[in-house]
Amino acid sequence: MVNEPNSLPFDSVMNPGLGKYISLYNEAIENPEKFYGDIAQILDWYKRWDKVLDDSKSPYFRWYVNGKLNLSYNAVDRHIQENRRNKAAYIYVNEKGVEKIVTYQGLFKRVNAFSQALKDLGIGKGDRIAIYMPMIIEEIVAMLSAARIGAVFTLVFSGFGAEALADRINDSGAKIVITADGGFRRGKVIPLKKTVDSALEMTKSVESVIVVNHVGNEINMVEGRDYWYHHIVGEKSYVEPERMDSNDPLFILYTSGTTGKPKGVIHGNGGYGVWVANTLKWTFDPQENDRWWCAADIGWITGHSYIVFAPLILGLTSILYEGSLDYPFPDQMWRLVSYYGVNILYTSPTAIRALMKYGDAYPRNHDLSSLKTLGTVGEPINPKTWEWYYKVIGNSKCPIVDTYWQTETGGIIISPSIGIGYGPLKPGSATFPLPGIDPVITDDSGNKVDSGQKGYLTIRKPWPGLMLGLNNQDEKYRTSYFEKIKGFYFTGDYAIRDKDGFYWLLGRSDEVLKVSGHRIGTIEIEDALLSTGIVAEAGVFGKPHQVKGESIVAFVVLKSDANVDSPAEALKKGVRDNFGSLMTPDEIHIVKSLPKTRSGKIMRRIIKAVYLNQISGDVSTLESEASVTEIREAIEKFRKDLGGVGD
Ligand code: PRX
Repeated sequence: MVNEPNSLPFDSVMNPGLGKYISLYNEAIENPEKFYGDIAQILDWYKRWDKVLDDSKSPYFRWYVNGKLNLSYNAVDRHIQENRRNKAAYIYVNEKGVEKIVTYQGLFKRVNAFSQALKDLGIGKGDRIAIYMPMIIEEIVAMLSAARIGAVFTLVFSGFGAEALADRINDSGAKIVITADGGFRRGKVIPLKKTVDSALEMTKSVESVIVVNHVGNEINMVEGRDYWYHHIVGEKSYVEPERMDSNDPLFILYTSGTTGKPKGVIHGNGGYGVWVANTLKWTFDPQENDRWWCAADIGWITGHSYIVFAPLILGLTSILYEGSLDYPFPDQMWRLVSYYGVNILYTSPTAIRALMKYGDAYPRNHDLSSLKTLGTVGEPINPKTWEWYYKVIGNSKCPIVDTYWQTETGGIIISPSIGIGYGPLKPGSATFPLPGIDPVITDDSGNKVDSGQKGYLTIRKPWPGLMLGLNNQDEKYRTSYFEKIKGFYFTGDYAIRDKDGFYWLLGRSDEVLKVSGHRIGTIEIEDALLSTGIVAEAGVFGKPHQVKGESIVAFVVLKSDANVDSPAEALKKGVRDNFGSLMTPDEIHIVKSLPKTRSGKIMRRIIKAVYLNQISGDVSTLESEASVTEIREAIEKFRKDLGGVGD
């Protein structure tokens, strides 16, 4: 096990700009009490904490113990007392060009009015709220109102289908669902309320549904259960924010792991708020009059942290865009950047690759000179994409901030930090850990590997953004994250630290895929296939894809009584209808049997290796619980069964 300090070899990358970063990084290690106390001043607290960290019940780390605060107060109220009352909090725009500007005063009004509406429906501190909405202002109002009254929200990505929504409602025990009649996507209306109605047939906890009238389509309203948003929101001007304990939960966000059931990651108020606000400041250095555009979906952690909480806590102006980045025009994103004078843009490598495909002329037709800094998140960025983003979008003058983090980490943990000093950048590397983050790359036994060697990325010490735990899966919290490499937080990613101290993220080490930057467990997709009722066995893996990073390939054995024409198409439809297009495989191959271990576990890696023709003489590298002979036999049998698929 490693105990020596994780020294940063700055000598070799020394750059005058790194000075402040180095002093903060060292302070976090040498004087954590002062460091974490200072960074918590970014928030207003009703009551100061007694202790910055209680780690006596590790791995349940509690930050800013006994501190009291409210994040909706921090995000909204305090700005209207300062001089940001008339400042735009959000410039909402959709793919039809409809624009709405909401000031901090406007947000304050809306949040208070909706908080009252929630209270009138009997929602209070500790109650669970499900939010299933398009990217509209009311979605943010719903999150902030929950935070204001101390209710715990769980936001479900609006691309998910009924079954995925029902699972999340059931696991969280939501009493209320907040939704809209529909959302706009690529010229089509997505019927969100209809999906909620189907999901509610599979749930019991929900008492009321609030519906925003957004697209104006025909929907079914259930008397006594469903309420129009605009009917229940009055003019009540003030609801006193709850004094939340720093470690009270703020939200639960479901994310994929290596087992079928998504994990409900719980984030709290104090540590999470401190971490997201500071990391935005450190990494992107936003200035008072900057326009910030985090072009993610609020349904994922990137949106929670960097569309909603961090920019509001810092009092910034954000672009909120409802729609696809290349619709109705291939240069939609560049039009918006130019029209709104965006200064800092934060998006995913998949989005950049998709837009890059349309060629340089589209971005070059627009004045992108307002851009100062460009960020990426969610998956490794390949050097070619990095170069294009840097040269064509940033005109070789904007640093690329490649931010590495996860749902569980709350905010960014490894990234260049424009606000406190960054060294030279290397395309494809997320560079260095942020102050307070102490990464160690280890082998299977927890020994630190040498620089340049691939290993598991683990984090030795806790930091304020780390989740509080998992909803209803306490044991899993310990075993998945803190027992793989005893005592260290296990990210599930492979990484290399090069001789200059730069971190290179190499993708997941487990059965989790990153499809267009979205995190999906192979087992989740297999479960979705099985739930169609016609599949006996399924094996899913990710295949490299030029734009999406990975695309989903499934091999299935049908049930003997399955009687459907075009089963692959029927399966795709079945999965899409219930789980949404995210979970739908691009390719489905029907086979007679799948390779399995003696204990009956499907050998996904073997299916993948055979399919991609990646089998060398040495099959022992194919991680599996089976012996080499068993693997050889399984490969031979599967090759025969395949009869040409994938050749
Ligand atoms: O594999 C890593 C990848 O995304 C995973 C986390 O996914 P999720 O919880 O959905 O959060 C995504 C948004 C923060 C990680 O385990 N990942 C995230 N950022 C990067 C990355 N891989 C490489 N480089 C990154 N910058």
